[in-house]
Amino acid sequence: LGQEIHYFPEVDSTNNEAKKLAANGCPEGTIVVAESQATGRGRLARGWFSPFGKGIWFSVVLRPPFGPMDAAKCTLMAAVGVNRAINRVTGVGCGIKWPNDILWNGRKVVGILTEMSAEMDAINYVVIGMGINANMKEFPSEIAATATSLALATGQTVSRVILLAEILAELENVYTLVQQAGFESVFAAWRQESITLGRQVRVQGFQRNFSGLAVDIDADGALLIKTAQGVERVLAGDVSIRYD
Ligand code: BTN
Repeated sequence: LGQEIHYFPEVDSTNNEAKKLAANGCPEGTIVVAESQATGRGRLARGWFSPFGKGIWFSVVLRPPFGPMDAAKCTLMAAVGVNRAINRVTGVGCGIKWPNDILWNGRKVVGILTEMSAEMDAINYVVIGMGINANMKEFPSEIAATATSLALATGQTVSRVILLAEILAELENVYTLVQQAGFESVFAAWRQESITLGRQVRVQGFQRNFSGLAVDIDADGALLIKTAQGVERVLAGDVSIRYD
């Protein structure tokens, strides 16, 4: 991954740029990386704080031989790759919150946004966008209580170039493994690095809210939650870990 790199001082969103390149036939592994994003996007139609030079805002184009149902699993795969790279380069103990946030000390360090284009039963391309809070010291008030950065976690400035190179190498590792041995091989690592499993969680779904014990992920990457009514399956939505 990263044989073709498109670097921008500023873009609207690296995911948008990557989707344009992908639609125009760019090779698999193409990277879009920017110093800042004017309209960085998060999951569930949220924004993503992307100040100049402080983070790693990038997207990678994959052309996996999978079906559209596998796109959500690509996100879990990516979370394993980035979590490993971060823990190795910085030495901080981050963990994965389902589905795809990387947290340190209960606060968010990385967000992942996966977008897909598919026709019939085949994926045309998948764009995996990652926002890594590397060196910021302050956050806007809306996220000040829930976000942190690797610089705050380590007390040191983090080399974005070294970290990005490691992230790409680890993403390539997990992607290769999935293609050779299936998603389950990477889900095993996801379970080990998860900070969600074994915890009481609260789910804010599209239809209803409920709480329960997060027990596992299934073959689709859905989170399984044990409640008084039985085991619930969550494929999308917002899950918060309860500390009460
Ligand atoms: C989330 O946690 O809600 C996902 C955040 C994803 C942010 C990254 S930054 C690079 C890429 N471009 C975007 O517009 N979003 C992703």
